[in-house]
Amino acid sequence: MIIDGKVISQSLKDAMKIEVDALAEQYGRRPCLMVIIVGNNPASRSYVRGKIKATEYCGFDGHLVELPEDCSEATLLAEIDKLNNDPLVDGILVQLPLPKHISEDKVIAAISAEKDVDGFHPENVARLWLNQHCILPCTPKGIIELLDQAGVEIAGKKAVVIGRSNIVGKPVAKLLLDRNATVTIAHSRTKDLAAVCREADILVAAVGRAKMVTAEYVKPGAAVIDVGINRTEDGKLVGDVDYEAVLPVAGAITPVPGGVGPMTITMLMRNTIECFLNRMNNK
Ligand code: GUN
Repeated sequence: MIIDGKVISQSLKDAMKIEVDALAEQYGRRPCLMVIIVGNNPASRSYVRGKIKATEYCGFDGHLVELPEDCSEATLLAEIDKLNNDPLVDGILVQLPLPKHISEDKVIAAISAEKDVDGFHPENVARLWLNQHCILPCTPKGIIELLDQAGVEIAGKKAVVIGRSNIVGKPVAKLLLDRNATVTIAHSRTKDLAAVCREADILVAAVGRAKMVTAEYVKPGAAVIDVGINRTEDGKLVGDVDYEAVLPVAGAITPVPGGVGPMTITMLMRNTIECFLNRMNNK
């Protein structure tokens, strides 16, 4: 089975569009997401376009704030501060990576935790690991949603996550653990990685190396979630999984593009609604 992130994502966005109209009626305004981009990184520009498009589709308020590549850290922090203090702004996202002269850690910590729709703020990360109410990071949240929508059982299963990043590997492992999977976090230096992965009922690949996960990594019937975004020499977008080789072995698989990617943006919309509701209800 191919898990079609595009189709699942579209139906979730259609439902949110209706929900947002009802929220506007009820609360007298729409959820508002502000997206900040610094500089001209082409990949970042393309991601941000997708986020703004989804914002418009779902009927949110908000727009893109564009700052030049040579913008100072102080200018960016002042812009964030302005949005933190704007009562009509529910969500703030600063697209990463930032130019070298700006500290990403400082910027992430400067965003008000209650408006941190990415779920990257240290307070949200801590709350996730303490099982407290928090904003979940979008990609891990989207992966769990994809597994649920595809009818993949999580409880009682063995999950292996390849990758230990703060944005994907670690939080997705925590969410799988919370759903009662038994979770192994593996990485590029794991000894006999293929044998470790072959144990998995659910295999999540988030390493950033094209075609790293071959058929020998996959237990027959396993669900394979490909979080990789890699460019081949001829500019084609490919995941971490050798899709053609793994497809006949896996019980379910997410394609790249059209798997996890669209879900990340859809969960960003979900998080914006949650931030809006938390703020309107003063939670
Ligand atoms: N750059 C790549 N992925 C992301 C993301 O999910 N959020 C932000 N802010 N920047 C990113």
